[in-house]
Amino acid sequence: MWGSWALLYILLPGCTGPGAPAPIPPDTVKFWADTLGSEVYSIITKYSGSLLLQKKYKDVEPTLSIEEVDGLELVKKFSEEMESMLRRKVEAVERLVEAAEEADLNHEFNESMEFEYYNSVRINEKDEDDNYVDLGNEFILETNEHFNNLMVNTTLSNIQLPTNVYNKDPDILNGVYMSEALNPVFVENFQRDPTLTWQYFGSSTGFFRLYPGIKWTPDENGVISFDCRNRGWYIQAATSPKDIVIVVDISGSMKGLRMTIAKHTINTLLDTLGENDFVNIIAYNDYVHYIEPCFKGILVQADRDNREHFKQLVDELQAKGVGTVNKALIEAFKILKEFREAGQGGLCNQAIMLITDGAVEDYEPVFEKYNWPEKRVRMFTYLIGREVTFAENVKWIACSNKGYYTQISTLADVQEKM
Ligand SMILES: *[C@@H]1O[C@H](CO)[C@@H](O)[C@H](O)[C@H]1NC(C)=O
Ligand SMILES: *[C@@H]1O[C@H](CO)[C@@H](O)[C@H](O)[C@H]1NC(C)=O
Repeated sequence: MWGSWALLYILLPGCTGPGAPAPIPPDTVKFWADTLGSEVYSIITKYSGSLLLQKKYKDVEPTLSIEEVDGLELVKKFSEEMESMLRRKVEAVERLVEAAEEADLNHEFNESMEFEYYNSVRINEKDEDDNYVDLGNEFILETNEHFNNLMVNTTLSNIQLPTNVYNKDPDILNGVYMSEALNPVFVENFQRDPTLTWQYFGSSTGFFRLYPGIKWTPDENGVISFDCRNRGWYIQAATSPKDIVIVVDISGSMKGLRMTIAKHTINTLLDTLGENDFVNIIAYNDYVHYIEPCFKGILVQADRDNREHFKQLVDELQAKGVGTVNKALIEAFKILKEFREAGQGGLCNQAIMLITDGAVEDYEPVFEKYNWPEKRVRMFTYLIGREVTFAENVKWIACSNKGYYTQISTLADVQEKM
């Protein structure tokens, strides 16, 4: 429609270029206006289908009746239905995330793993001897109305890989094997909420697990260019905004090399953050210090200026005194909670990064009060130094709060282990 308008406008005489136009007689203007009017009318009539609509209406008019509706009531009902529909979707995703994390946690990487999986391109393919090809066993498919009448298998998901990823790479085999655990969850989700359609899992190694399973056809050149890692949903999830509080031990035992490693660790952490992330840094010994006192009790955007500012302050940190981590943790949980409840920041991804050379206090009461059972805040722990006495303790902190534990013994470790 806008195209037509523009066209009409350009065709009008007198509108061409600059320069003083000669006076135009009123009759001519009226003629233009009439022409334009009838032109617009005929175009709108033609493209809006209004005549057809009028005719249709005439056909059904005798059977129509008018019914009063309560607009507010109607909107309320819609919004409730919408909300419950969205909630069911969110719950389905949460069940998948939980199963995937669980499976990942329980899986031990096996370099020489052998594993036959259903490759969506190879399934049901046979070689010249009439045997199913490698990774291409029989995979029963049935037409399903719910999935655009495509041929699908609603008991199993299967695996798609882009052409440039080797289908038996150990990373792929381990990932595919591990994520088999999602099959029952896909099925259960679909049974619980039949309005669900496709459910999928995209791995950083490049495989794409799709439920229900389908047969995937390469393009006319035999190339499979779809790579889940390039999809908007993947990129968004992989780099989703985070709220991070870095808690660093500056007690006396951290003096020397440990402090150097700790500072390097914080700087490396800061470098992984971007403008969509929020951050603060708390140092502790006998006291809890915000390393930037102006940022007390808040999180600030991890933009370049703030990151550089933090780096300068980190550089000035000095180790002394006795470490009491609990107060610092409570402070960190409090900021994150306030931020979350105010609906600011990354919302779903909150974490505390604890950097210490050892921890002996009893943390359970703190976690119980501030983080359990939901475990909204993940705890990542970095044990600095070679000492292993505290390893179990520090590992436990991470593992009981959905995080990871890392020991960083040397400066060279920092980059690699972050
Ligand atoms: C790794 O996989 C191979 C081949 O499937 C198997 O023989 C071996 O026992 C596995 N190793 C471990 C440690 O599970
Ligand atoms: C899905 O495929 C598997 C393997 O071929 C088969 O055992 C199963 O019955 C299929 N499920 C459906 C619903 O067709």
